[in-house]
Amino acid sequence: MGFHVPVMAVEVVAGLVGDPQGIYVDATAGGGGHSRAILEELGPRGRLVAIDRDPEAVAQVRRELEDERVVVVCGRFGELVQILVRQGMSEVDGVLFDLGVSSHQIDQASRGFSYQQDGPLDMRMEPGVGMSAAELIAQSGPEELARLLAEYGEERQARRIARAICQAPSMHTTAELRRAVESVRSGHLPKTLARVFQALRIAVNGELDQLKRGLAAGIALLRPGGRLGVIAYHSLEDRLVKQTFAPLVSACTCPPEVVLCVCGGKARFSKVATQTKRATTAEVDLNRRARSASLRLYEKRGD
Ligand SMILES: C[S@@+](CC[C@H](N)C(=O)[O-])C[C@H]1O[C@@H](n2cnc3c(N)ncnc32)[C@H](O)[C@@H]1O
Repeated sequence: MGFHVPVMAVEVVAGLVGDPQGIYVDATAGGGGHSRAILEELGPRGRLVAIDRDPEAVAQVRRELEDERVVVVCGRFGELVQILVRQGMSEVDGVLFDLGVSSHQIDQASRGFSYQQDGPLDMRMEPGVGMSAAELIAQSGPEELARLLAEYGEERQARRIARAICQAPSMHTTAELRRAVESVRSGHLPKTLARVFQALRIAVNGELDQLKRGLAAGIALLRPGGRLGVIAYHSLEDRLVKQTFAPLVSACTCPPEVVLCVCGGKARFSKVATQTKRATTAEVDLNRRARSASLRLYEKRGD
């Protein structure tokens, strides 16, 4: 089985790489697919910083991309500014966030991300760091768990499912979590399971907090003319991206009662396309992961 097939790689590269001699950041390097595609566009003076918080992904990318133009860093994109400062970089030409987990992480039962295979209820992108999903559940009461399922999984049966999870005799494996969810029998089971596993994964890895910090860092680090791209796989992430950029892309910062605009268009970003990009049906036929992906691209304006 391959490590990971990059989603919308053609669209990402076309949208992100403006200057082949520039500095680009792949903030979620995974199996290195997007990194490789970006690297193929770069000239001899171009640079790529490939980051992942999962040491296994980092090892894979180091193996895949031996190239003097590439630096591979194990770290969280929430600390993007610090990571780049350590590389002597204070401005970049493009940043990509391809959110969530890779196929490799999901396919390995031992990582505990999948409801389709039995494994330890772990879900940590950084193995051994912080609390596992089982530990998180053990220390949350049904109220807190219901809040997580509702907030991060947008699950309507959050209370009933949380109660079933907390009442289960043992909660150490993905199969035990699956059985607890199944016992509630609500709605379309695979979708409910996906929402519950998503919610726990987001909580375990602090994903939305990372995304907020990562976007803020990317916004600060981009040079005028530089571009930031985000591939999101569910509405929580996508909404956060949209809301973060909304005040930055508005054409005018003057209050609505000002009839004659005098700000001269102080918007700091423009959308690269009015429509969010979706994978083509041909791509979705080859890679089912691509079906829920949406790519947003923003360009920083000149001063
Ligand atoms: C969808 S995969 C990326 C796949 C990659 N674009 C490729 O072409 O192979 C997401 C990756 O982002 C990593 N990741 C998620 N959150 C992160 C964070 N806050 N900081 C760094 N890496 C993160 C995960 O470990 C995973 O390897």
